[in-house]
Amino acid sequence: MRTLWQHCHAATLAEGRYSIIEDAAIVTCAGLIEWIGPRAELQPFEVDRTVDLSGAWVTPGLIDCHTHAVFGGNRSGEFEQRLQGVSYADIAAQGGGIASTVRATRAASEDELFASARQRVQALMRDGVTTIEVKSGYGLDLANERKMLRVARRLADELPLAVRATCLAAHALPPEYAGRSDDYIAHICDEMLPALAAEGLVDAVDAFCEHLAFSPAQVEKVFIKAHALGLPVKLHAEQLSSLHGSSLAARYQALSADHLEFMTEEDAIAMAKAGTVAVLLPGAFYFLRETQLPPMDALRRHGVKIALASDLNPGTSPGLSLRLMLNMGCTLFRMTPEEALAGVTLHAATALGLGDSHGSLEVGKVADFVAWQISRPADLAYWLGGDLPKRVVRKGHEISN
Ligand code: NIG
Ligand code: FE
Repeated sequence: MRTLWQHCHAATLAEGRYSIIEDAAIVTCAGLIEWIGPRAELQPFEVDRTVDLSGAWVTPGLIDCHTHAVFGGNRSGEFEQRLQGVSYADIAAQGGGIASTVRATRAASEDELFASARQRVQALMRDGVTTIEVKSGYGLDLANERKMLRVARRLADELPLAVRATCLAAHALPPEYAGRSDDYIAHICDEMLPALAAEGLVDAVDAFCEHLAFSPAQVEKVFIKAHALGLPVKLHAEQLSSLHGSSLAARYQALSADHLEFMTEEDAIAMAKAGTVAVLLPGAFYFLRETQLPPMDALRRHGVKIALASDLNPGTSPGLSLRLMLNMGCTLFRMTPEEALAGVTLHAATALGLGDSHGSLEVGKVADFVAWQISRPADLAYWLGGDLPKRVVRKGHEISN
């Protein structure tokens, strides 16, 4: 079915940058964008259907390129502890933090994990999100990492959105490996990654490079194995301290390095050279009440692509709105609304290895877009949450939300 979408303006993000078309027309066919441009230049197409978008602004479907949307339980009790002054690192050292979510995730069935993740993902979708990444990392053994990754695949099967599944087995040390972190890394490389990859459950491999998680040398072993299996890598780096994980990630042509508050200018240079996207996570920065800002000027100066994501997780960013992250990226990190929009479309797609098919409104790309009833694109970063009136199109078909 060929559809003409008109009476709209478009923020296309075409050709790698923020750009707009006023009074635009879009033709979609077989799930792809067949034509987009000023309506005045539209050639006569044989269309099956014409849709009047009532003057909406059309953007690419939003992409949340860093989530931990699948998990058991929640950690609002730790939130209360932190409000009393206990730090995230102290809570982790006392057996809370990620370890407590690991206990709850292991105890949950696959159906229970699916049911709770589905609700969270539907909240993201109500904000115009059409693609998400989902990480494992709260199972930390083969059976439970598999369970999480299967839930990620099932989300894509049962909801109208694209899901990239990332194996984050190197998120934290499971209790059964206490004091034996090198052994756990070997177990990930020798058993977990090969099995999960063979089952087709993994699109990328991530790790948490931090004093309270894994060292750069340990992360490198995971990266080497990932590459041997033909899988791209990503990294949680420089969130709480500077270990130059982002430079390590760049050396392994990582799709992205994420968090990055403590990164240096040298890290930014390495990432720019490698084309590794900087994924900034203002929700975690805000929720942990961090004060060290990511080095925006260095990232811009060296031309690093900047993405924004929710980091939706129970410990550091229980964030159910990607648009709220646009606002936080602007208010907390001083991004412009245009940078923020590029960060949840164009650059988020690249951070997932989907730059050729998603993230902009261009001929040949998947017809995922949102028609927002707003006066200007900057409105998307302006409103603090809420439900903006919009129509969401996934693979050329309007979905209800
Ligand atoms: O992205 N940094 C590590 N991982 C998550 C936090 C996970 C948790 O605390 O449960 C993050 O912030
Ligand atoms: Fe994360």
